Amino acid sequence: MKAATAEDKRWTRKHLLGLEELSADEIRFVLDTASSLKEVSTRSVKKVPALRGKVVVNAFWEASTRTRTSFELAAQRLSADVIDFSESGSSVSKGETLIDTARNIEAMGIDVIVIRHPAAGAAELLSRSVRCSVVNAGDGAHEHPTQGLLDLYTIRERFGGKVEGKKVAIVGDIANSRVARSNVWGLTKLGAEVMLVGPPTLLPRSFEQLGARVTHDFDSVIGEVDVVNMLRVQFERIKSSQFPSVREFTSMYGLTWDRFQRCKKDVFIMHPGPMNRGIEIQSDIADGPQSGILQQVTNGLAVRMAVLYLVTQVGG
Ligand code: CP
Repeated sequence: MKAATAEDKRWTRKHLLGLEELSADEIRFVLDTASSLKEVSTRSVKKVPALRGKVVVNAFWEASTRTRTSFELAAQRLSADVIDFSESGSSVSKGETLIDTARNIEAMGIDVIVIRHPAAGAAELLSRSVRCSVVNAGDGAHEHPTQGLLDLYTIRERFGGKVEGKKVAIVGDIANSRVARSNVWGLTKLGAEVMLVGPPTLLPRSFEQLGARVTHDFDSVIGEVDVVNMLRVQFERIKSSQFPSVREFTSMYGLTWDRFQRCKKDVFIMHPGPMNRGIEIQSDIADGPQSGILQQVTNGLAVRMAVLYLVTQVGG
């Protein structure tokens, strides 16, 4: 890979907190770095020494399969030491605050904290309280920047390097979705046309201010989009007044076989996971030939290697 250097002005950020603050060039630079690093995972010895001697802490205050595992594997592939911190079983249960917890972990000499937390703004708060790099792995309904980047990477890969001009529908529980917000920022910066689709209770008109088109009628846009990114219905965050019955949601906003057949022939199907099979997406579509769902996961590893690599090259 072509390494970023101290003189390389294409990446100057010590933290990755969201895609809102990144420029299009910075996003492209992360994706290009991920492209170079993806090859490492195809080697028989899947390791490079880029972060030898560095320490990465995975600090997750919420459940995760994909993000947690891929950050851990990404750090290992770059030869960093990795520590896994979970709220449960820690002194958080005795009342220790997020900041005190992070400062105590940092005092052991670490270089990066990867944080997932239910509170929007937690990663930003942490970045102002510690000296090491902070990477946001999802903060409340605010942002999930590495998911946004891996989704961009996967769309770019699918369409021969081109994101500009692609029509992308992001469908479902938008209001509770940090994935939707990071996707909107990233996709619009790279020139895609974003349509947000969902029931009015889960998709306020205010989302138009992010530069996306808002519609409550999935069927009116289904035939014109190049990508359909189905979101998980976050039952744990939804208030009952916001949600019709599951059956009604699926009939209006689910990616059913009938709807899939009205999509463009080469439509690309995405989902960040975890999926509610049979609710927002039908199983045979999720597992079918036009699904990029597992490619998203594969690309997430390369993207997270790139992010860990880049933030650790920036001093100060
Ligand atoms: N897409 C995503 O963030 O999945 P996990 O919650 O399993 O990390």
